[in-house]
Amino acid sequence: MGSLEPNDRELAAYWMPFTHNRYFKQHHSRRMLAKAEGAYYWTTEGEKLFDALSGLWCCGLGHRHPKIVEAVKQQLDSVDYSPAFQMGYGPTFKLAERIVGMAPAGMGQVFFVNSGSEAVDTSMKMALAYHRTKGEASRTRFIGRERGYHGVGFGGISVGGMVANRKMYASAMLTGVDHLPHTYNPKEMAFTKGEPTWGAHLANELERLIALHDASTIAAVIVEPMQGSTGVIVPPKGYLERLREICTKNGILLIFDEVITGFGRMGTHFAAQHFGVTPDMITFAKGVNNGTVPMGGVIARKDLYDTLMTGPEHAVEFFHGYTYSGHPLAVAAAHATLDILATEGINERVKSLVPVLEDAAHSLKGEPNVIDIRNCQLAAAVELAPIEGKPGLRALKVFEEALKRGVLFRFTGDILAMGPPFISTPDELRRMTEVLRESIRAAG
Ligand SMILES: Cc1ncc(COP(=O)(O)O)c(C=O)c1O
Repeated sequence: MGSLEPNDRELAAYWMPFTHNRYFKQHHSRRMLAKAEGAYYWTTEGEKLFDALSGLWCCGLGHRHPKIVEAVKQQLDSVDYSPAFQMGYGPTFKLAERIVGMAPAGMGQVFFVNSGSEAVDTSMKMALAYHRTKGEASRTRFIGRERGYHGVGFGGISVGGMVANRKMYASAMLTGVDHLPHTYNPKEMAFTKGEPTWGAHLANELERLIALHDASTIAAVIVEPMQGSTGVIVPPKGYLERLREICTKNGILLIFDEVITGFGRMGTHFAAQHFGVTPDMITFAKGVNNGTVPMGGVIARKDLYDTLMTGPEHAVEFFHGYTYSGHPLAVAAAHATLDILATEGINERVKSLVPVLEDAAHSLKGEPNVIDIRNCQLAAAVELAPIEGKPGLRALKVFEEALKRGVLFRFTGDILAMGPPFISTPDELRRMTEVLRESIRAAG
């Protein structure tokens, strides 16, 4: 492979995802990674960076946890790949059973996929198939939410609500999708610590959409319990409960997209447990195996699966799946991850870090251009006023200043997001936010 530093031809050849390709290829100092361990990356220049977003919200247990590394290495000595269709591999079944055991009561089955986007599209297909099999084939509509992020499949972008991810593909969106309003209102909730007290009433908008479309046309509502990718938008107190009530009353499935919130980020296995609201399906990815090997999945209520188990027994019941569903390497990494979550007190550790992150993040109030700070368990975001006519540029400058000071943040629009590793120490979280303070000041 040679040097880790790409030459010009190599730089040109790679079309980077969700990246300003032209800018990156001109300004990539401190942005090429060479090594990862624990809560840190090292760049090709040898500089150490604190990983303030756990990769992309996926490596909560820190990079290259020895137990996960060992599990994947050992896996390569037994089974590399096993066909996902019409053949079985015991550890995949065992993993499904473990995940069901971690999920809220009533969940019965896990369907494995390779990413959050696939998990979302899979859950949408399950919803359609469920209603159709039950004799309610008119339930074809999906309700998403403004500012929602559900990956990049055609299902996910249709129910998603981040404009830039949608506008180029408008002609190919699923039809019959509607959106709830997002719950962010800076006048009512700027600088709130944790869940805002204002906003539960916005869930009643679902009743308005039901009145407009009629419940008999709606298959499912999909929301992130906490909206992560749009910049940590925290659900108002009582909001998710109200969505649940309305869905139940109207025979509509409720899907929680827990791609970011699943497996520890909320100090519980799932956000459903943290918020005390049980959906009918949970999508997950990222944290399930600490981001080590691509994996995602859908956890479905048992009666949903049971409903779909119809037709002749020798026939396939659900025409869906991926070549790499339940890939043995991903499964091995997931078992090791769940072992660590179960035995190393990770949820408790996350809970103990929540007040540290909350205090540290909110201490940035009053810094130049800071217009909001939000936090939800081990996630936080600082929103900056955009530079006039150049949205996103201020956060980019802060991001670059922070790299110089040894912290890798994630920026989206003019929002800096933090989702630090669960294994961070309180001092590391305080240092991370001090670096953010210095970087905000330096960026001007
Ligand atoms: C809530 C949510 N859903 C879906 C996705 C898409 O996941 P992936 O990038 O693995 O397809 C993400 C990614 O951040 C996410 O945050």
